Amino acid sequence: MEIIIRPDAGAAVRLAAQIVSDRLRAKPALVLGLATGRTMEPLYAELVRMHREEGLDFGRCTSFNLDEYAAIPAGDPRSYRAFMRRHLFDLVNIDPARTWLLDGMAADGRAEGRRYEALIEAAGGIDLQLLGIGEAGHIGFNEPKSSVMSRTRDRVLTRRTREQNAAMFGGDWEAVPPRALTMGVGTILDGRELLATGTAKAAILAEALEGPVNCMISASAIQLHPACRVVADAEAAGSLRYQQYYDWALHHPAERLAG
Ligand code: F6R
Repeated sequence: MEIIIRPDAGAAVRLAAQIVSDRLRAKPALVLGLATGRTMEPLYAELVRMHREEGLDFGRCTSFNLDEYAAIPAGDPRSYRAFMRRHLFDLVNIDPARTWLLDGMAADGRAEGRRYEALIEAAGGIDLQLLGIGEAGHIGFNEPKSSVMSRTRDRVLTRRTREQNAAMFGGDWEAVPPRALTMGVGTILDGRELLATGTAKAAILAEALEGPVNCMISASAIQLHPACRVVADAEAAGSLRYQQYYDWALHHPAERLAG
């Protein structure tokens, strides 16, 4: 795992967007795993800027979002489909037919999960998966007790997550759907490369990155991935014990030391 610490949230987001754009330029038919949430908003804004000003081309790319609320139709402005349209899909040249999200209205969450996994497989798997780390330490909506091997399915949300996401629901956490569909932790780990961004959540980031891998903090599972990069701002990285080492290692790559 590579941990890159940037002085502020703006610099962290710009770097994350740069990594996405590098991958997209190297492989125009990239399969991108996407997330929603506050951390992603400035990242998508930067990708939109790159599309408009630097010709970043989404024309051949396919996307799969991590999660969607249950019982909220795709057309509802509070759905994650609507979030993605507002912040990315409607603002770049991605083909809407290749933007996949779980169907929140599916009657059977497990069957919907299996359908989604088959779509990911048919697309050749996810090349680059974006992740935000939630206050509850989750990735996707993999709330506590999500197995490291879990697959796409529905989950009951914690009160904390519903509180975190209440803004879109008039500030009332009880109005946030109690259930959501999410890629499993195992599904996320199947992505060929992970890019996690953390801004401001120092305590949970330290637990996820330096604590033991465990099912109470599903973000800790990213430690198991062989190609995982975390981009954090200085505030979010503030509780990492090995902060200086990460910085030093980044500026002194092993191959250069060996050479
Ligand atoms: C959303 C998702 C969540 C968020 C996480 C952080 O699609 O997968 O895991 O990434 O809750 O949310 P923010 O960025 O709003 O702090």
